[in-house]
Amino acid sequence: MANIVIIGTQWGDEGKGKIVDLLAEYSDYVVRFQGGNNAGHTMVVNGEQFISHLVPSGIIQGKVCMIGNGMVVDPEVLINEIDYLTEKGVNVGPEQLKISEKAHLIMPYHKAMDHAREAANEKKQIGTTGRGIGPCYEDKSARRGIRFVDLLDDGFEENVRAVAEEKNFYLTEFFKAPAVDVQDVIDSYSRYRDRLAPYVTDVSVMIDQVLREDRRVLFEGAQGTHLDIDHGTYPYVTSSNTVSGNACCGAGVGPKKIDRVTGIVKAYTTRVGKGPFPTELFDATGDFIQEKGAEFGATTGRRRRCGWIDTVMLRNAVRLNSLTGFAVTKLDVLGGLDTLKICTGYKYKNKELEDFPTSLQVLAECEPVYEEMPGWEADISAVRSYDQLPEATRNYLRRIEELTETAAEIISVGPGRDQTIMLNNPFG
Ligand code: GDP
Ligand code: IMO
Ligand code: MG
Repeated sequence: MANIVIIGTQWGDEGKGKIVDLLAEYSDYVVRFQGGNNAGHTMVVNGEQFISHLVPSGIIQGKVCMIGNGMVVDPEVLINEIDYLTEKGVNVGPEQLKISEKAHLIMPYHKAMDHAREAANEKKQIGTTGRGIGPCYEDKSARRGIRFVDLLDDGFEENVRAVAEEKNFYLTEFFKAPAVDVQDVIDSYSRYRDRLAPYVTDVSVMIDQVLREDRRVLFEGAQGTHLDIDHGTYPYVTSSNTVSGNACCGAGVGPKKIDRVTGIVKAYTTRVGKGPFPTELFDATGDFIQEKGAEFGATTGRRRRCGWIDTVMLRNAVRLNSLTGFAVTKLDVLGGLDTLKICTGYKYKNKELEDFPTSLQVLAECEPVYEEMPGWEADISAVRSYDQLPEATRNYLRRIEELTETAAEIISVGPGRDQTIMLNNPFG
């Protein structure tokens, strides 16, 4: 039996949704353990597209899905997503979706704070998704957060009034932004409570029970390693730990329950929002990748910045997550480029750095060191076996594996579930 964690190795949008949907077939349960509706995970099954922001990407495969305690949940968005998936014929009933009673609620004042802060100082913008993620995690750490269990408790109204009073002071006096209407918040959240109460349970206890029955669990990460609050390009990060270790904290299981960790690697690099990006392209090649890869955010529709693959980042991800293998996605997008570049290190003041630097000042002065490889002309999106990939494609993959000392277990050549070459199924 294997329990696996799937995480992003770069700055998000690596194709986690597609790979989680694919591997969910071999799993019994899928648990998301951090983040909120800043995530946008896309699945394409028989030509039909599904986008999920909060519901784990195993739902299309009919698996029981869980929202772990490490997540922050906007209940209005969750209800809309349940309705959207139900309309598409997906079962998202309370027997199919479980919400941890310890997961925190994103409140309207969190979204207002996120917007006000980003608008207040253009120079200091993070380029957040504006979904209230940071302010909600702030309240969690400050012990002023409201969890699902609190929503169900009698003291809910009093609790919200106390917190909202402080937020409104901050919003109106400091940011000169409109206050939130507290009664309105209480009324709408009471409606959300009535709708979502049947879904709320103790997810940690449930996972323990199913593991005792030798069932398989897939832990689904959101965002990517370099957006991690501790290990990412701080402060241009999200507000949660995105690395594999947080699968334990954010789902309520101990580390001995994790058998394998698969890192999703896009065949090139993208980033949405602000922050350093050493291999970013500002030329026609960048435009080619952006257009061919349809690199627009699934959550905010923003154009994603594009650049070459960076094995300094990937080695960082291998170490931080104890990766046991890669799933390489969007390899088809690179077809048609004469030459491909792989970043193997960074040059800083005439020295070559092998490890990802912490200082953003150092990072800003780093020049990527590239190895060039011949590209391939062919459209590989219909290829279903490794041997049928062009030699140049196999060489490109092999070089990434060598530079990261990590094997590619899955190769994705298109958005569809079937557009995949499985070399070594992490579930065994
Ligand atoms: P996630 O946030 O990591 O789940 O990734 P997103 O869903 O935000 O972005 C990945 C995008 O690439 C989605 O539109 C997917 O449908 C698409 N995609 C995933 N794998 C492939 C692939 O191998 N090739 C191509 N062309 N598109 C892919
Ligand atoms: P998935 O799961 C890509 C980025 C935002 C911004 C920074 C902080 O789809 O890969 P936040 O709203 O979290 O406070 O924003 O993090 N970001 C993502 N970028 N994919 C994501 O999720 C992201 N979630 C957050 O663009 O730069
Ligand atoms: Mg995404």
